[in-house]
Amino acid sequence: MNIIILDTYKELSIRGAGFFIQTLASNPTAVLGLATGSTPIGVYQQLIEQYQAGQLDFSAVTTFNLDEYIGLHRDHPQSYYSFMQQELFQHINISPDRIHVPSGVEDNFGAHCQWYEDAIIAAGGIDLQILGIGTDGHIAFNEPGTALGSRTHLTDLDQQTIIDNARFFDSADNVPRRAITMGVATIMDAREVILLATGENKAVAIQAAIESPVGSECTASALQNHPNVTFLLDPAAASLLTNQ
Ligand code: PGA
Repeated sequence: MNIIILDTYKELSIRGAGFFIQTLASNPTAVLGLATGSTPIGVYQQLIEQYQAGQLDFSAVTTFNLDEYIGLHRDHPQSYYSFMQQELFQHINISPDRIHVPSGVEDNFGAHCQWYEDAIIAAGGIDLQILGIGTDGHIAFNEPGTALGSRTHLTDLDQQTIIDNARFFDSADNVPRRAITMGVATIMDAREVILLATGENKAVAIQAAIESPVGSECTASALQNHPNVTFLLDPAAASLLTNQ
């Protein structure tokens, strides 16, 4: 595990974007695993700037997002598909048919989950996966108690996650209660993983992820067994780590 502590969100975003830039420099057809939430937005802004400066080409890139709310059509303003369009996709030259975000509206979710797993394998697997972390230690929507061997599946959101995500909706009542998410094992299959976290409210989760025994109570702790993972943290998120 690599742990990098950077003073500002901007530095963290530049460093995070650097992983994508390096991956694309060595492989223009790379498969990228993408995340929603506030934390990765700075990385996406850096990637957009580099693209606009003519330094990056996404034309042959394939992407897979981590998760989506159940019940929200992809055109819903709070869907993760819409989030990705606004924060990244509409600003770069990615081919729409190479974008994958799990669907929150399906007749047969079992088949859709299997299709998502198969599509990742058919694309050659994820080269670089970016993650945030929930205050409850989740990666993607793998809430506490989720099996570390899990694959793409449907899940109930934790009360804490509903509260945390209420800021994107009119109220907590409007936050969907269920989601479709890559599993922990799906994420662990990525060849390289970066996890970004900022702020004091992530310090407990980061300590559990890095220093507690691996277990499903903090699904991010599974990353301790990943061969190529980097945590990019600000000092507040790293503040409870004993070994800094
Ligand atoms: P955040 O969400 O980046 O908005 O804090 C992280 C997460 O829940 O994974």
